[in-house]
Amino acid sequence: MKKGILEKYPPKDGNNLIALLHEVHEAFGYLPKDDLRAIAEYVNLPITSVYDVAASYGQFRLTPLGKNVVRICRGTVCHVKKSASLLTTLENELGIKAGQTTQDKNFTLETVACIGACSIAPVININEDYYGRVVIEEVPIILAKYKKEEISKNRIKKLNGIENQTA
Ligand code: FES
Repeated sequence: MKKGILEKYPPKDGNNLIALLHEVHEAFGYLPKDDLRAIAEYVNLPITSVYDVAASYGQFRLTPLGKNVVRICRGTVCHVKKSASLLTTLENELGIKAGQTTQDKNFTLETVACIGACSIAPVININEDYYGRVVIEEVPIILAKYKKEEISKNRIKKLNGIENQTA
């Protein structure tokens, strides 16, 4: 728990639960389990109640984001341009469903409402990059760019390992 968050609120007051969850979420980008426990204790509510509230609010994330955040637009224009098929392809390629993070923490897949780039629908956004008029066949090629970086880093690590062994 980030220092000072709990102290901003009076103890044993469940009315501050949402405000506390917002503060922790803002500090970490998700709600760590230990922090949910600390909040439950502080506001004097059962951990199950705190977890239920956190899980029922769409804006709270219970797991950390992956290194690359893939967002597929599900707004009306993108929907008409078959973004549902792109979502299915992304899910198959990454082996996760929307809202989940890959086990290696390299990708998080999210669906979003209109990204504001309807003129190039359907749109996929990965980190700071936007891909417009995407067709299914391009999905693996786009993802490879973000997988490649990982592969390169692993190769460098391996090479360093070899160099260290021979030194
Ligand atoms: S509906 Fe997808 S960018 Fe607007």
